[in-house]
Amino acid sequence: MRTPLVVGNWKMNLTSAGGESLVEQIIHHSRAEFEVDVAVCPPYLSIPRVADVCRRSRVKLGAQDVFWVDQGAYTGQVSPKQLDEFHVAYCIVGHSETRGRFGASELPESTVGFFAETDETINLKMKSLLFHGIIPILCVGETKAERESGLTEQVIRGQLEGALATIEAEELFGVVIAYEPVWAIGTGETCDAAEAQRVCAFIRQEIRYMGDGESADAIRILYGGSVKPDNAKSIFAQPDIDGGLIGGASLDAKSFVDIVTAAHVKNS
Ligand code: PGA
Repeated sequence: MRTPLVVGNWKMNLTSAGGESLVEQIIHHSRAEFEVDVAVCPPYLSIPRVADVCRRSRVKLGAQDVFWVDQGAYTGQVSPKQLDEFHVAYCIVGHSETRGRFGASELPESTVGFFAETDETINLKMKSLLFHGIIPILCVGETKAERESGLTEQVIRGQLEGALATIEAEELFGVVIAYEPVWAIGTGETCDAAEAQRVCAFIRQEIRYMGDGESADAIRILYGGSVKPDNAKSIFAQPDIDGGLIGGASLDAKSFVDIVTAAHVKNS
């Protein structure tokens, strides 16, 4: 039995005071009997303040990205060791926005290369996080154009193979995968629950080929992309979907806790 996981990705929103207040409200609205793992991923600068609040609760702390080296001359980067200092338990890796693949963005096309993450850098981050005992949340997903060209499975297989290269089957237990169709992120266009299930089942099957049956059965696969309180229940009811990675709706305590409640319902 896989414990559902609901993760809030706050992206580049809120000040640290705002983050502290949001996590306090989430804790206040959460019920003790929730059989769901819950985490929030604030911007780096908010981590110390949010960490102080999380320490007194069951809400775990996550980061939105990481560099793969412990220390050194890497201007602007943050290492797993530095995350560990604040008891960061989860870290998002390879989000479509850090890969430079936006579902909805007002950025000029010419600046998208700024987010130059590749499968190779994602793989280095995965290995570094696993070494430090931080659970990576690996994001995979196709763009609208890739889906319309019938490339969904091929794209996701390539992303999984790249990100998980040379990671042993027994280490896959410690990984979370998030299926995040790029076209559904921040667009309000949710993937139909049955289609999300079909792709998440495909991901589990790929893990079975790449790792083994045990890790494929144990690994948690989340869905992300315009999850809201009103669609969370039908998405989480799917057998291969073990919770969600929530962007916009995680910035409102009540919406986020309603989504956590939907995950609890699945588990009860
Ligand atoms: P969204 O973002 O819920 O705002 O679509 C999800 C994500 O980017 O992880």
